[in-house]
Amino acid sequence: MTDIPEQLIEHLRSAAKVVVSTGAGVSAESGVPTFRGKDGIWNKMSPQELASVDGFMANPELVWDWYQYRRELMNKVEPNPGHEAICKMERLFDNFVLITQNVDNLHQRAGSSNIIELHGNATRNKCFSCNELFEGDINLKDKLPHCHCGGMIRPDVVWFGEMLPERAIQNAIKSAEEAEVFFSVGTSAMVQPAASLPLIARQAGAFVVEINIESTSLTNIADIFLQGLSGEVLPHLIAELT
Ligand code: APR
Repeated sequence: MTDIPEQLIEHLRSAAKVVVSTGAGVSAESGVPTFRGKDGIWNKMSPQELASVDGFMANPELVWDWYQYRRELMNKVEPNPGHEAICKMERLFDNFVLITQNVDNLHQRAGSSNIIELHGNATRNKCFSCNELFEGDINLKDKLPHCHCGGMIRPDVVWFGEMLPERAIQNAIKSAEEAEVFFSVGTSAMVQPAASLPLIARQAGAFVVEINIESTSLTNIADIFLQGLSGEVLPHLIAELT
């Protein structure tokens, strides 16, 4: 079990604002495949084909089916102790923000509420043409559902090459600037602008902690690198704190 340095406990005890930023690794122990690394989704499938506007325009049924497959998987899995520990952190600290790149809705199901969804949420859909939002399941009368405006309906997630929701990225940058302790958990730190958030936090004076099973490009600038499974390290951190 990874030791929690006393220095981190001290920083957390006095921190006015704590921010946690998560990637796919935090859901790996729930059984949701990550995108990169061993068994990563992008090792077998093409992000351009399945997670880009061009890919959707070229083959909307394929992209829609892939997201239906991922949504069925998301409905079959449960939040893991890492998600639950982050939910406890929200109650432990007066000023806590969770930023996530994940679209699997597992943080929400674990009970986290103050969440900035940087890349959207795959439980929601929107019209490709008029952007109308569709919460919850869509009854699939036909292979590819269409909006009343005639546009195709797509998952409400950010695809490669698309801009992030303006409010989400502004709030995330503001939270990183205000953080006294900033956690980067389960992300390869390879996709912008999420990968810049820990750097912004560090430059603003935050104590930066990385939790990952392996080092990343962020490891060298983090104040502390806790190598281990987020579903084990985070509950251990909570136990040390409470
Ligand atoms: N505990 C902690 N870290 C883990 C665990 C675990 N149990 N399992 C895997 N990891 C780490 C891996 O070492 C890797 O660094 O999680 C990271 C997952 O990296 P990616 O698969 O690249 O996921 P992420 O960083 O979230 O990708 C960012 O890329 O494809 C886009 O939009 C997609 O939001 C995604 C973005």
